[in-house]
Amino acid sequence: MTLDNKQTFRDALSAFPSGVTIVSTTDEQGRHWGFTASSFSSVSMDPPLVLVCIANTADSHAAFVDAQRYAINILAQEQKDIAMHFARKGVDKFGPHAFRYGTEDNPHPPMLPGSMASLVCVARDVHEAGDHTVLIGEIQQVELGDATPLVYYNRGFRHLELETADSLS
Ligand SMILES: Cc1cc2nc3c(=O)[nH]c(=O)nc-3n(C[C@H](O)[C@H](O)[C@H](O)COP(=O)(O)O)c2cc1C
Repeated sequence: MTLDNKQTFRDALSAFPSGVTIVSTTDEQGRHWGFTASSFSSVSMDPPLVLVCIANTADSHAAFVDAQRYAINILAQEQKDIAMHFARKGVDKFGPHAFRYGTEDNPHPPMLPGSMASLVCVARDVHEAGDHTVLIGEIQQVELGDATPLVYYNRGFRHLELETADSLS
C-alpha cells in the first residue's frame, strides 16, 4: 500500500500502542520545562542510550536542545491527568504537580513521584529529523516505582490488563 496521504500515516502510527512519558528539564535560569511524549524508545544497552523526539514547534524545544540533562518519567495509569496537562501549551505546567527538584548540592532534572520509572539522562546527541528533533540521552540514574503503566493507543489513553500471553524465556 502506498502512503497516499498523511491520514494513512497517522492511522498506521495509531495502531502502535506505546507508553507515555513526561520529559523534563531545568534550564540555566532555573526555569522548568516539560512535555508529554510517547516517542520514547531504548536505543543501546552499552552505553545505555534512549531517545525521545520533540516537535520543532514545541515551546520547550530550545530548552531541550540546549539541555545537558533531562529526565524521562514513565507514567503510571493514575497519571493520565498530568499527561494531558503537559500536552497543553501556554499553561503553568509544574505549578499544580508535585515534582522533586534538584538543589545546588544535588542538581537533577524534575522527577515525578509515582511514576513507573524516572530516567535521568545526560544529553549525548541531537539530530534534526523532519519536523522533529531526536534527543539521544545516556542514562545516568534510574528510579524505579511500583505501579501499572499508562498506555496510549488509537488516540486514547488505555489501561493495561496484566495478563501474560507468552513469555520469551
Ligand atoms: C499521548 C501524547 C503523546 C505525545 N507525544 C509527543 C512526542 O513524542 N513528541 C512531541 O514533540 N510531542 C508529543 N506530544 C505533544 C506535546 O506533549 C505537546 O505538543 C506539548 O504541548 C508540547 O509542549 P510545549 O509546546 O509546551 O513545549 C504528545 C501528546 C500526547 C497527548
